[in-house]
Amino acid sequence: MRLKSLSILVFAATALGGLEARAAGELNLICSADVVICEQLKADFEMTHDIKVNMVRLSSGETYAKVRAEARNPKTDIWWGGTGDPHLQAASENLTLEYKSAALDQLHDWAKKQAESSGYRTVGVYAGALGWGYNTDIFKAKGFKEPACWADLLAPELKGEIQIANPNSSGTAYTALASLVQIMGEDEAFDYLKKLNANVSQYTKSGSAPVKAAARGETGLGIVFMHDAVAQASEGFPVKPVAPCEGTGYEIGSMSIIKGARNLDNAKAWYDWALSPEVQSRMKDAKSFQLPSNKSAEVPKEAPKFESIKLIDYDFKTYGDPAKRKELLGRWDREIGAVAN
Ligand code: F6P
Repeated sequence: MRLKSLSILVFAATALGGLEARAAGELNLICSADVVICEQLKADFEMTHDIKVNMVRLSSGETYAKVRAEARNPKTDIWWGGTGDPHLQAASENLTLEYKSAALDQLHDWAKKQAESSGYRTVGVYAGALGWGYNTDIFKAKGFKEPACWADLLAPELKGEIQIANPNSSGTAYTALASLVQIMGEDEAFDYLKKLNANVSQYTKSGSAPVKAAARGETGLGIVFMHDAVAQASEGFPVKPVAPCEGTGYEIGSMSIIKGARNLDNAKAWYDWALSPEVQSRMKDAKSFQLPSNKSAEVPKEAPKFESIKLIDYDFKTYGDPAKRKELLGRWDREIGAVAN
């Protein structure tokens, strides 16, 4: 009798323990793309897995800073989205974990290259070209010329009409800084940014905030990834996306597992899941119009066409290097940030 009740107890404890272990399945995610896609991914993942996702939305540069600060005691398991440069910088500082997903072979070369060049410590999940979106009502009402080129953004009448993010926090703005340096040369790019500063009313924290402000008529133009301008236009706002005539840079939005992740198996489950065509095809439902990295994922019809954009051969190796980041941001802080309004 005593033996029987003991075995019932053992059985109950094991069963409960199992349940507890499943219920305690968690994943600490930092999502560096738009909050709407971040929430959609969290909900979809939780629906198909018995894992609770604790999601925080932070811009790319903020996430990189957090991951660095927590290196000895990581609180994050996986970092999804955000521009690829800070993912590469984290990879080269050994802050992220090498992982080869079985889905790698399904990806476009640009996404695979991102993985190979980082020693498989990050991988491409989407791509997007840099440009801007402007409020056509404001431009028409004020009689401004259509801004087709980087040079047009320096027109004196655009004083106070432009917003762009701060490249310390935002991957979008870091991509803009690195792209201008590649297009013009470093000194010329900083000269350009000093002149542009006269027209900038605000350096926002998040990369897409400037075009959201333009959509609502709070500013004339936001320098952003083109897909973020398209998203506002698709909501019915009077926003026109522009690909700069001189050429422009682009991002390989990336994903990395944090070294020392406490929920490593769950992080791997997310990683494999997020590379699948089904998940990537659904990004457009959150008005996330980047190019998906899985070759079989549906390309949103709204996605800006890379073939019709004058893209530079963005040097991810150089600009994804931590020393280069430090140097460029230090110069930006001294020459632009310090004199910004
Ligand atoms: O809004 C989406 C998006 O533009 C992504 O394509 C990009 O990776 C991310 O935002 C960059 O955000 P931030 O500039 O705030 O780091």
